[in-house]
Amino acid sequence: MAKSSNLLLCLSVFIFIITKLALAQTCSNYKFSSKNLFESCNDLHVLDSFIHYTYNSSSGNLQVAYRHTDLTSKKWVAWAVNPTSTGMVGAQAIVASPQPDGSVRAYTSPVSSYQTSLQEGDLSFNVSELSAAYQNNEMIIFATLTLPVSNGGNINTVWQDGSLSGNNLLPHPTSGNNIRSVSTLNLLSAASGGGGAGAGDSKLGLQVSSWAGNQPGFSLALTVLLVSLPSALQQFNFLWYKLGVCSVFKTQTRAQVNIYHHTIGYTVIILAVVNVFKGLDILSPE
Ligand SMILES: *[C@@H]1O[C@H](CO)[C@@H](O)[C@H](O)[C@H]1NC(C)=O
Ligand SMILES: *[C@@H]1O[C@H](CO)[C@@H](O)[C@H](O)[C@H]1NC(C)=O
Repeated sequence: MAKSSNLLLCLSVFIFIITKLALAQTCSNYKFSSKNLFESCNDLHVLDSFIHYTYNSSSGNLQVAYRHTDLTSKKWVAWAVNPTSTGMVGAQAIVASPQPDGSVRAYTSPVSSYQTSLQEGDLSFNVSELSAAYQNNEMIIFATLTLPVSNGGNINTVWQDGSLSGNNLLPHPTSGNNIRSVSTLNLLSAASGGGGAGAGDSKLGLQVSSWAGNQPGFSLALTVLLVSLPSALQQFNFLWYKLGVCSVFKTQTRAQVNIYHHTIGYTVIILAVVNVFKGLDILSPE
């Protein structure tokens, strides 16, 4: 009796953790509505922001989509590359500013001092296909930047949000997350640093989720499970050992625990292999 209610508790904890992780917003499970597909993405560590991009190192063309979610009030947002420094001064920004008529103005603005009002101007590199859209509390800016490879593919990036007064952009807050919104992006390795929570395997994530997109239901659930399982197991183990929540497992012998671990491990590997081959199959349909 005690054992089975314990088991139930353990299962609920486990399912709760998996659900929580699966529902956490990450860039790799975001689906763009139309033609815009990007090879890589990063979850930026502050300001509910994500950067999606495709880089062609021979042409130097960087196609980006910067997304800022959870915008509960009208705000301007900006994403910038800083070719000369790591902070705000020198940043070459693409800006999106909501207009009173509901449209969004997208433009470029080079930042030469802290006193900027983000006035429009040409950047130090070429920008094309610039546009922005606001929907469901989310702003997206699309642009193609011409950035020949330098510095091993590393670029310094900055992003921001701030309030509006009519059509005027007010300065962004100068504390909290608004001064932590810098990170280094490596265009060649698809990894980010500089305090950013990099999504190391975002490329794989995109492939897996785009495949899952063709097979709704089961495979999506499988993908979500595969992605969340290792970290869910880690958190579960933490509760299990440190808090003693799941004493039903604790009373088992070490050997039984090992068998349990190995079984889960092998199942995950087998599912992952099946997933990859099913995925490849669909990608090359002959
Ligand atoms: C990358 O750019 C080069 C040079 O402009 C071009 O020939 C090539 O097709 C591009 N690659 C992709 C994948 O678009
Ligand atoms: C931008 O592109 C134009 C041609 O499309 C070229 O003449 C110009 O040099 C480029 N500017 C920079 C800064 O690369």
